[in-house]
Amino acid sequence: MNPNLHLLQHPLAFHIVTHLRDKTTKPATFRTLTYQLSLLLAIDATRDLATAEKPIDTPLEPTTGRVLLHEPLVVVPIFRAGLSMVQPFLDMFPDANVGYIGLERDHKTAEARNYYCKLPPLAGGRVFVVDPMVATGGSAAQALTLVKQAGASNPKLVCIVACPEGLAEVARQHPDVPVHAAAFDRELNVRKYILPGLGDFGDRLYGT
Ligand code: PRP
Ligand code: URA
Repeated sequence: MNPNLHLLQHPLAFHIVTHLRDKTTKPATFRTLTYQLSLLLAIDATRDLATAEKPIDTPLEPTTGRVLLHEPLVVVPIFRAGLSMVQPFLDMFPDANVGYIGLERDHKTAEARNYYCKLPPLAGGRVFVVDPMVATGGSAAQALTLVKQAGASNPKLVCIVACPEGLAEVARQHPDVPVHAAAFDRELNVRKYILPGLGDFGDRLYGT
């Protein structure tokens, strides 16, 4: 197992992934489940955010708590499907900025083509590239290269389903990048879809 992989081990995550896989799950439910699972992933992927001690007074006595340090957070979804993972991050971290990367897999070659890139300042921030599926790993690796070129020093990749081929490709190009996933599936099929997987995430989300 790749040491960079952080698998979400939570009963609620298992439950949600199972319903996402189910081909009878309709787009409205699929979107809700994606939101809920991405919330869990956002919490898991930010467990190493820095905190500082803060003295406060409770109604009963003085005490010392911990608060988040003001590290700028940036969420970078890969179009289209990654958009579904942005709002959960923003609901947890309302001050986060959002960058956008447009990548589309060619259905014949499975190679990702970059058609859009708009990023806020990344240097000194905590950068989370979000995309539900890491199949060949080409899209995720390309997005990580783009955010690093734009100044991200320690980006993380957050996805819903990863697989051995995709994880290996991301690790080959970005051995420094932690990958947070809710499921780690068996393999790719000949069309480079993840098995057992859940099909085309963007199509399942948007009914295309
Ligand atoms: C899907 C998915 C990833 C990519 C993963 O996007 O959301 O971005 O495929 O594949 P890879 O690891 O082999 O690069 P897709 O190209 O289908 O675009 P969409 O999000 O617009 O549906
Ligand atoms: N993209 C998807 O949406 N699903 C896969 O299985 C592979 C790539």
